[in-house]
Amino acid sequence: MSMKLPFFKNRKTKVTKEERELDNIPKHVAIIMDGNGRWAKKRGLPRIAGHKEGMDVVKRVAKTAANCHVEILTLYAFSTENWQRPKSEVDYILGLPKEFLHIYLPELIDNNVKIETIGNFDVLPDHTKEAINYAKEKTKDNDGLLLNFALNYGSRFEIIQAIRQVITDMDSSGLSLDKLDEHLFSQYLYTTGLTDPDLLIRTSGEQRLSNFLLWQSAYSEFWFTDVLWPDFTEETFMNALHDYQQRKRRYGGI
Ligand code: FPP
Repeated sequence: MSMKLPFFKNRKTKVTKEERELDNIPKHVAIIMDGNGRWAKKRGLPRIAGHKEGMDVVKRVAKTAANCHVEILTLYAFSTENWQRPKSEVDYILGLPKEFLHIYLPELIDNNVKIETIGNFDVLPDHTKEAINYAKEKTKDNDGLLLNFALNYGSRFEIIQAIRQVITDMDSSGLSLDKLDEHLFSQYLYTTGLTDPDLLIRTSGEQRLSNFLLWQSAYSEFWFTDVLWPDFTEETFMNALHDYQQRKRRYGGI
C-alpha cells in the first residue's frame, strides 16, 4: 500500500530502504533541470541568475531525495549540445560545479552523499574537473545518495562511443558477437553499474528527452511539470514521487 504525501512532508526521520521498497519509492530519479533562463527573464535578470538559483535547488532536491532513500539522483547539468550557447553562459554553467562543491561539499559529506558524473568528462575545463575529482575522491566511500551529475552528456555520443569500444574489444580482446546482448551493451555506457532511472522528471513545461538517457529510460516513468527549475521545491519533488507511487509498471507485460 502506498503511503500518502503527508507521510513525507511531516516526517523528521529518514525513510529506510525497506520502506522505500514497500512504498514504491523510485530507486533512481533522473531530472532534466529546465527553465533557468525563463525564470531569470521573467524577473528581468540575466540568464546566469537563473542558473545560479538552480544550483541552490540542486542542493535542496538532493537532500530531499536522500531523506526519501532515493538511491541515485542523476541531474542533467550540461549537455553536449549546450556548447552552442554564448561562451559567457557556457563558462558560467561549467563554473557552477566548483562553486556548488565549495559551498556544499562538507554538508554532502556529512550526509553520506557520494558524488559521481556521467558524460564526456575529459574535455571539461580543468577547474571543473579538479573540483569534481576532489569531490569524487572525498566521497568515494560514502554509501548514501549517489548524486550523479550529467556533465557534457549526450546519449547519442554515449551510444556511439560504446559501439566503438565494443568493436575495439571484438578486434583486440576476443569479444564474440553472440555475447553482445542488452546487458553487456549497458556495461559500455557511462551508467554502467547503475540501475536504469525509475522516474524521469522534466521541468518547465517541455516534454522531450533532449538526448538524455535514451537507452536507460526505455522503461522509465516520465513526470512533467510546468514549474521552472529555480522554482522547484521539496513539495514539487514529493508530488512527483507521490504520482510515481500510483503508477503500475508493466515493462511490456500485462
Ligand atoms: C536548462 O535551462 C538548464 C541548464 C542548461 C543548466 C542547468 C544547470 C543547473 C540547474 C545548475 C547546475 C548545478 C550544478 C551544481 C552543476 P535553460 O537555460 O535551457 O532554461 P530556458 O529553457 O528557460 O532557457
